[in-house]
Amino acid sequence: MPDGAYVEALLADLEKDLPYLQGRPIHSIFMGGGTPSLLGSDELERLMQGLYQNLNIDKDAEITLETNPGTFEIDKFARFRESGINRLSIGVQSFNDQHLRQLGRIHSSDEAAHAIEKAKEVGFDNFNIDLMHGLEGQTMKQCLSDVEMALSFDSTHISFYQLTLEPNTLFAKFPPKLPDDEDIWAMGAKGAALIESHGHQQYEISAYGKIPSKHNMNYWQFGDYLGIGAGAHGKITNCKTQTIFRTLKPKSPKDYMVKFQGKDLDLPIKIIENTTFEFMLNALRLKQGFDLALFESRTGKSLNVIGERLSIASDLGLLSVENNRLTPTSKGFDFVNNLQEMFL
Ligand SMILES: C[S@@+](CC[C@H](N)C(=O)[O-])C[C@H]1O[C@@H](n2cnc3c(N)ncnc32)[C@H](O)[C@@H]1O
Repeated sequence: MPDGAYVEALLADLEKDLPYLQGRPIHSIFMGGGTPSLLGSDELERLMQGLYQNLNIDKDAEITLETNPGTFEIDKFARFRESGINRLSIGVQSFNDQHLRQLGRIHSSDEAAHAIEKAKEVGFDNFNIDLMHGLEGQTMKQCLSDVEMALSFDSTHISFYQLTLEPNTLFAKFPPKLPDDEDIWAMGAKGAALIESHGHQQYEISAYGKIPSKHNMNYWQFGDYLGIGAGAHGKITNCKTQTIFRTLKPKSPKDYMVKFQGKDLDLPIKIIENTTFEFMLNALRLKQGFDLALFESRTGKSLNVIGERLSIASDLGLLSVENNRLTPTSKGFDFVNNLQEMFL
């Protein structure tokens, strides 16, 4: 599929969703899912132009491009920067070639190191490195050496994900032999301490930043966002009725193209019924917690609906509420799934 045609479909998709903005400005843009860094620099420039023509983008908006080190071409990335991308998320995953092969990644650890160096060379001073831990046959020593290596590039952000076996994936079908749960837990804890000892603050389950990501924060604070592209999800609040719903775009790029090259732009939306649980599913992932006023403004509900559950969770030592701010305790943060379930 020619990149140009896909970019035109993206812009047609955007145009269709503009009314959902209800006059609100854009604070962050995240180009991810798949490998947007495969786009040609002309195509990405066309897309950026289309975004600036259609959107009221804040002057200090965070504009992230997710990149796969294996697709790194220095000239293209210099052009990406010129076209307005101001943050890179580099999907390294590991600096251990055997683990990269097991993960089915196309890049090597040398290519990952090269890509990061070049990203800095073309001027990307705000960039994230994605790492995974709890990998097949991974030892504590290997996990910490990955973290050390990532820290050596002095990025502004590190995402340190525990490998999860997503349903309907090859890993789910042929599950790899993962380390024991205790060992994975220990890798997560020691890795976190090492990352924080280098000046990054953990602000979410997997996210550590000298500069927290605006896009990630909006997501976890149950903020609204448009979802543009094949398989993209959006989350919108109707500011008049306070109805909150998700937008869903056709998953297969072929169906997506047919949809947005066609005239029939009827698209499904899904009303979010249990906004309390959906809010807590996101916001309780924040290590520093949130103001309770955020719950009211983002769900349109009064605090009374969660009052009783807040006091039960507080009695169980899973969270504390002081000066109208809810903060998960370290026990509540470590057992966040249990805490979230209390708001189901
Ligand atoms: C969530 S986005 C990255 C957003 C980025 N961390 C940022 O701050 O902008 C994609 C990343 O999810 C992680 N990921 C993908 N599949 C995963 C899995 N099955 N288990 C754990 N992490 C996964 C990979 O590190 C991948 O690079």
